[in-house]
Amino acid sequence: MSSTLFSSNDTLEYCLPVKLNKISGFEYWMASESNQGNILITGATGNVGFEIVKQLSAPADRNIRLRAAVRSINDAAKIIGQRAELVEMDYGKPESLSKAINGINKLFLLTPFEPNMVELSSNLISEAKNAGTVKHIVKQSVMGADAEPGIIPSRLHRQVEKIIEESGIPFTFLRPNFFMQNFINFLGNTIRNQNALYLPAGEGKVSFVDVRDIAAIAAKILVEDDGQHNGKSYNITGPEALSYGDAALILSDELGKKITYVNISDEDARNGMRAMGMDKWFIDSMIELYDISRKGYASDISSAVEDITGRKSTSFSQFVKENIGSFR
Ligand SMILES: NC(=O)c1ccc[n+]([C@@H]2O[C@H](COP(=O)([O-])OP(=O)(O)OC[C@H]3O[C@@H](n4cnc5c(N)ncnc54)[C@H](OP(=O)(O)O)[C@@H]3O)[C@@H](O)[C@H]2O)c1
Repeated sequence: MSSTLFSSNDTLEYCLPVKLNKISGFEYWMASESNQGNILITGATGNVGFEIVKQLSAPADRNIRLRAAVRSINDAAKIIGQRAELVEMDYGKPESLSKAINGINKLFLLTPFEPNMVELSSNLISEAKNAGTVKHIVKQSVMGADAEPGIIPSRLHRQVEKIIEESGIPFTFLRPNFFMQNFINFLGNTIRNQNALYLPAGEGKVSFVDVRDIAAIAAKILVEDDGQHNGKSYNITGPEALSYGDAALILSDELGKKITYVNISDEDARNGMRAMGMDKWFIDSMIELYDISRKGYASDISSAVEDITGRKSTSFSQFVKENIGSFR
């Protein structure tokens, strides 16, 4: 077993028979000629990427081969047991990118939200182009990526989208709204410990989306794409637009105790984020995001989840019910 690419018997049983070349202890995949092909999921330990790996791992009868890119195998314990091979890939390490992309037909591209995300994404897109085997890039973007003049996150995502468009590789852009999972990852601490959530988001409504629904769309497009999603961009939202006050009421109902939304000033939000060790660039980006929420620009509702997966998108109350332990 090499130090960079791991496979399991499970994976081999599950995959189409594809030829493997062993070069210097590293297994190189030959590009599959099947329509469903060899799929690379980046950001595989994160919210969206992990859900895609899980969903594509579930049924064992698909003609796909799945590779999950992680920065460190040592920090990827949760993926062990999924039907995916693991490859160590760091956007900042060019040599790791060519290994990850080798033999890949379809790429789910997720770059962390960082100041250099355009450069990081561009590195992998170049590798995909050089490899010549990649026939489709499904890019995790953000709702409002096409807005002018936009805000920091949307501008960065749009720059990456343009690089993909210019690469000539067929693409689909997934543009989700704020994740419901943010209520666990970023707001869970004060919800659990202070029965409150503090944000500078006013009463603006947001059509929060469950990450599992984004993953379901990505999985469907990656596996079943027959060209119908090529060149398309999808806004992805939940079924309703809620203010943070509305969300607090739903949390209160589900948890059986009062959860309060406290609408704080931008300055208090900045101070709070500074105290948590966040840097200025990230804080500025968050303030912009909450500003567009406050102004109602994040309230549009899209039918993409139902259109593409055939089932209804997850409501916020359903999300809270299904994750109730994370709020207690
Ligand atoms: N949160 C929202 O409400 C929201 C809404 C719309 C769009 N988005 C967009 O969604 C993306 C974030 O998705 P997410 O929440 O699923 O991500 P996440 O949970 O923050 O995970 C980020 C993933 O990227 C990996 N990663 C970080 N640095 C890397 C590097 N240098 N090389 C290779 N991999 C690296 C991480 O691996 P490690 O485990 O090794 O760190 C992790 O798997 C961002 O592009 C964001 O702008 C977010």
